[in-house]
Amino acid sequence: MDAFRAIADPLERYVYLRTLQRGDTETFYRALISRPLELMPFVYTPTVGEACERYHELPTPVNGVYVTADDAGAVGAKLRRHWKEEMAWLSRGVGGASAAARAEGASHGDERVAVAVVTDGERILGLGDLGAGGMGISEGKILLYTVCAGVHPSTCLPVCLDVGTNNKKLLEDPNYKGLKRERLKGEAYDALVDEFMREMRAWQPNCLVQFEDFGNSNAFRILEKYRTTGPCFNDDIQGTAAITLAALLSALRATKGRLEDQKILFYGAGEAGVGIGELIAMAMEKTGMSHKEAMERCYFMDSKGLVCKSRLDGLQHHKIPFAHDVEYQPDLASAIAAIEPTALIGVSTIGGAFTQDIVKSMCALNERPIIFPLSNPTSKAECTFEQAMEWSDGRVVFASGSPFDPVVRKRDGVKVFPAQANNAYVFPALGFAAALTDASQVTDDLFLAAAESLSAITSDTEIDAGHLFPDMNSIRDVSVTLTAEICEMIVARGLGHAPKGVKTHEDWLEYIQSHQYHPGEERLASKL
Ligand code: NAI
Repeated sequence: MDAFRAIADPLERYVYLRTLQRGDTETFYRALISRPLELMPFVYTPTVGEACERYHELPTPVNGVYVTADDAGAVGAKLRRHWKEEMAWLSRGVGGASAAARAEGASHGDERVAVAVVTDGERILGLGDLGAGGMGISEGKILLYTVCAGVHPSTCLPVCLDVGTNNKKLLEDPNYKGLKRERLKGEAYDALVDEFMREMRAWQPNCLVQFEDFGNSNAFRILEKYRTTGPCFNDDIQGTAAITLAALLSALRATKGRLEDQKILFYGAGEAGVGIGELIAMAMEKTGMSHKEAMERCYFMDSKGLVCKSRLDGLQHHKIPFAHDVEYQPDLASAIAAIEPTALIGVSTIGGAFTQDIVKSMCALNERPIIFPLSNPTSKAECTFEQAMEWSDGRVVFASGSPFDPVVRKRDGVKVFPAQANNAYVFPALGFAAALTDASQVTDDLFLAAAESLSAITSDTEIDAGHLFPDMNSIRDVSVTLTAEICEMIVARGLGHAPKGVKTHEDWLEYIQSHQYHPGEERLASKL
């Protein structure tokens, strides 16, 4: 930790940690597990954004498997070979899992892969098409399954589908190591994704596949195509939805508001926004509202203005359910005036879009406005915590995608903390639950349950201080609770099964704890 702290530059810290991961794997995991709050920003957001941009310049070895457009027809063989040969350092490095234990539950005599994170690099955070550099995001996210939930690292596989890139800068860079051609599209693209999914299912039928940072023209389609064919989900759509709903439920405890009274305006109508809108509507329906009424509480702006009925012609498919019968508004200020939202959620990748005037107009409508500038990385956040606090005179209830420093509230000198809507609170627990129950599918109601449960275990003290979520340093305990609740729900829905002798909530808690990976211990690998 002393050596790490002596490094000032975030990217150098990233390289330091990645080097440690290969050189002394158990120490790497021990450090991350014991200090997630301090270390996670250097293996995941925000630093991972820059790491992906400069991936081909970094001295760090690749930890995942590239499936390229040229592998078409031989994807299965590549996955198997890579897992056996290239990933051997990982099982050596985390010697806790015996090969026999890892093999339990796997097909074809190969060792088990419990979770795979796959990207095609087209929309990395808010940074756009980073081609083969997208591997950094799969490598970063996969770590969180281990650090936050306890999935054994030797059962985790990062994947990047290198289908080319439309990023001119990368195509012209002599050092870029990905395929130097335009992105595959249409049938050829779909065929490669299809081959990847078929081969994953044939090789590792129970493996949870997490889709990560696909462009939104592919993300929704891919999710729809595969969501009922085996355990998979899209974290940008469904994971973000769960963490944001959890933030909203906690925010309502701060404002003393009711979910059914909220009107939410989304600035940005992509994967994150639409996923959040759909899950919020699902939660509202539970309060007795009809589906239509619930959907009509969520309004969206995209780069062309308010999404509404008069724009139906030519509107992207995923926005259509939110094209309500309201007057078109060209910009955010006029949309706020017309809709009078109680909450404003930024998922636009437009840094600084929530100006002083915008925040003040939310304050004019609400005693405690809920403002969540979720765009990542930090440079893309619609406003900073400091700005939101100052412009709202400390009245804002705030959550952002990237971390910000706390602020001392001017009117009473109290130190207030920003909440970070970090997907890491949800997807690792969900993935662990899917793996432990051999879930056949991951359904939206599991994300709803995870959101409700995460908010419920956040204490009033944490909410009063601004956090909206439990302490990130207790993420492993939080994940045990969430994992148990999700396991129970998977079993109750008939989507998976409980291990022998596991019946009650307490049984689940004990079972999950005994299967969490702890660096240097053997016990955890009995199932995974
Ligand atoms: P996306 O590319 O699917 O969607 C972006 C949306 O913003 C599009 O609908 C686009 O039309 C809209 N947009 C662009 N310019 C605009 C403008 N000037 N005014 C209004 N809307 C505009 O991206 P996605 O996946 O929805 O992600 C958006 C952002 O949310 C990213 O920065 C991402 O990092 C962040 N995010 C944050 C998460 C978190 O806080 N936990 C999780 C997932 C994403």
